[in-house]
Amino acid sequence: MRMYDIINQKKRGRALSREEICFAVEGFTKGEIPDYQMSALLMAVCFQGMNEEETLQLTLAMRDSGDVLDLSRIDGMKVDKHSTGGVGDKVSLILTPMVAALGIPVAKMSGRGLGHTGGTIDKLECFPGFSTELTEKEFYRNVNRIKMAIVGQTANLAPADKKLYALRDVTATVDQLSLIASSIMSKKLAAGADAIVLDVKTGNGAFMKEEEDAFALAREMVQIGKNAGKKMSAVVTDMSQPLGNAVGNSLEVKEAILALNGLGPADLMEVVYALGAEMVLAAGKASGQEEAVEILQQTIQNKTALDKFAEFIEAQGGEKRLVYQPECLPSASIQLQVINTEAGFVTELLAEEIGLASLALGGGRATKESEIDLSVGILLNKKRGDAVAPGDTLAAVYANDMERAKEAYGRIVRAYTVQAEKPEKIPMIKGVVR
Ligand code: URA
Repeated sequence: MRMYDIINQKKRGRALSREEICFAVEGFTKGEIPDYQMSALLMAVCFQGMNEEETLQLTLAMRDSGDVLDLSRIDGMKVDKHSTGGVGDKVSLILTPMVAALGIPVAKMSGRGLGHTGGTIDKLECFPGFSTELTEKEFYRNVNRIKMAIVGQTANLAPADKKLYALRDVTATVDQLSLIASSIMSKKLAAGADAIVLDVKTGNGAFMKEEEDAFALAREMVQIGKNAGKKMSAVVTDMSQPLGNAVGNSLEVKEAILALNGLGPADLMEVVYALGAEMVLAAGKASGQEEAVEILQQTIQNKTALDKFAEFIEAQGGEKRLVYQPECLPSASIQLQVINTEAGFVTELLAEEIGLASLALGGGRATKESEIDLSVGILLNKKRGDAVAPGDTLAAVYANDMERAKEAYGRIVRAYTVQAEKPEKIPMIKGVVR
């Protein structure tokens, strides 16, 4: 088999066989196929696309290039949730203990934040002592005992995807739907759950800016998962403005704890319940959506989800008392209020600008190597649709450096648009793909 012929086939629009895809992926991962040949193949895929079978085979080849977790040592139906990434997205912190409190095992591998979107692992590190580096034995033991564990992705999770993504990033071949879907799903399939619920975000703060593209990605990922033998569903949710009111690691953890105490903002809880219902249904713990939401709500009302979160923090070495005393979590030294000047309604609150403001404060990573400041961030006091008067506080900046605070301030001012007319409500849940 020759890489030249594989590139030529794809260039002419012909489907590649499983053997050809495995040859290209394995050869490239081992360093036997050079970047220029793989780049040519990726570009041919951008122009000619891939069919369902090719997309599945590419996903499986990338999955099998590294560690594939075997969760059979964990009892019950293992359910995972994945978000394509957004600003203020702390859903996993709230939803995982809710689902675990219902006895549904969640063995989760999460990522760190990069760019303007945050990562669950960084947020959890607000708890001193908390470790995301469990041995495999500890991981399985914790899930069997308390029904949840969250660890960082192993270095050897889908290494083919890591190498391919780095090449796509510099050859303008990131934005091809089948390549995106197979990249995300290769890592999710390697993480070993029986059922996967996807949160596909859409809007200016999301990877998929247009709703139509988000649905197309959702359908493609659901199809890959099903073809790989998993129970799948995807919820397409709004990311035109940040989710909830807090952006920044410790501020988001505090908001998640408020939510577990029954005080979560409405938009955030709508997304939590929509995704949670899919997880509960996949685990067979409810017969319909309404019943699923009801039993999830009970975990908040009877505080079992809050106690589960505390149990989880302790099981992974963190200080459990902070779950009940969130005011003792890291906090920043400078507070700046962003004051409104016009009368009217907030008609736009750009998620991406707020994410970039948090990045400017040091709350996110500009590169993989960046150190992050867990205490900084933004609390949004007004969101899209809210009435505002001159002098109202739109948002508060939490910083440890005045120069950075000023940069974030400028971005927050740019993120808000205030106009005379009340805007139409944007639905949080755009639809579900099953
Ligand atoms: N996220 C991924 O993991 N892969 C992509 O290709 C795009 C976004």
